[in-house]
Amino acid sequence: MDSLLRPKRELDLYVRVRSRYSFRMQYTVPLFDLNYDEAEVQAVLAVLRSKWISMGPQTAALERAFAAHVGAKHAIAVTNCTAALHLALAALGVGPGDEVIVPSLTFVATVNCVGYVGATPVFADICGANDFSIDPNHVRRLITPRTKAIIPMHYGGFPCDMDRLLTVAREYGLAVVEDAAHAPATRYKGKAAGTFGDVGCFSFYANKNIACGEGGMLVTNRDDLAERVRLMRSHGMTTLSFDRARGHATDYDVVLRGFNFRMDDIRAALVLAQLGKLEADTAARARLRQLYVEQLRDISELIIPYADCPHQSSHYIMPVVLKQGGAARRNAIRHALAQRGIQTSVHYPAVHQFSIYRSLNAQLPNTEFVSAHEITLPLHSKMDESTVSLVVKALRECLAR
Ligand SMILES: Cc1ncc(COP(=O)(O)O)c(C=O)c1O
Repeated sequence: MDSLLRPKRELDLYVRVRSRYSFRMQYTVPLFDLNYDEAEVQAVLAVLRSKWISMGPQTAALERAFAAHVGAKHAIAVTNCTAALHLALAALGVGPGDEVIVPSLTFVATVNCVGYVGATPVFADICGANDFSIDPNHVRRLITPRTKAIIPMHYGGFPCDMDRLLTVAREYGLAVVEDAAHAPATRYKGKAAGTFGDVGCFSFYANKNIACGEGGMLVTNRDDLAERVRLMRSHGMTTLSFDRARGHATDYDVVLRGFNFRMDDIRAALVLAQLGKLEADTAARARLRQLYVEQLRDISELIIPYADCPHQSSHYIMPVVLKQGGAARRNAIRHALAQRGIQTSVHYPAVHQFSIYRSLNAQLPNTEFVSAHEITLPLHSKMDESTVSLVVKALRECLAR
């Protein structure tokens, strides 16, 4: 029992530590909670008892299961989604002198990976306050002879307009790397997010729909990329420790300068347990989001992005956007919610406005508006329906102040 309680205690500690730097509050309604139970505990114990804790049979089983889940030819487990994005660009041969078109309303990893391979990020705006996906029209205007790739990010698990993005990419011969960190259950016109472009990258970070602490998955239908990524994931070595331990190989060559971006079997077992819960977890999130949308619809001060999204989402987060007031009012409302014990977040501070990227002088009006006015409300599959009503009531009161 004690082991089952630990994740919650760790979350409380995290909230306490974080709140010292933000609102100095103990949250009664956290933004997120893990969907962990005895299944995860037993999965990890089995790996520990097997004594094979690095990349091995659990990772191989996870790769098979994930490939089947998204309908991709190859799934390659890695240390995190950042490593997957890095490997994707490296395997595609993107390098110095190249440009990669990226969103700015994203987690900074979507952009940093471009710099890892020596290329330059070029920021595209989002469609608007109802749809935070990268705008295909703006993408088209940003293309130069140096452009090599586009990285669409499926914000909150709501898919980008892949038909239009792929049309642009094909017209100009650009590679597409999907940042599907939020989108393990997302489908666009019936097909899984992450399987439209050359490569799809998923995150299993601690607060994601599938969570193992640190973990990621790269999927592709291209054999050439899969082969390069497998080599690059493990130092450029032609065999793995597990192959050698099983007697499948006795030595190895090193054919390129790779990385150590391997997943381990402890995390792979956790991800497998979480993958088994994904369908029910997503359905619970969808119900809660539906309740949010119904209860928030009449608040004239708010925009609810993706309110009428026709595609299957992973419902990773619950964003709302204030129609006016700027970041000062948004922050005041977040502060008032925090005083009522409700944790919120901002997804995201615009990446092009961080010090490191300011010199690129990107002007992105839609991204800047959303970045200043967005509030992310609590959402996770363990939340009960009455908590949605509690959050909406508190938000109404804070907006009315
Ligand atoms: C949109 C997006 N891309 C990439 C990442 C990086 O994922 P990871 O933490 O697994 O490296 C995240 C993680 O939060 C993310 O939200």
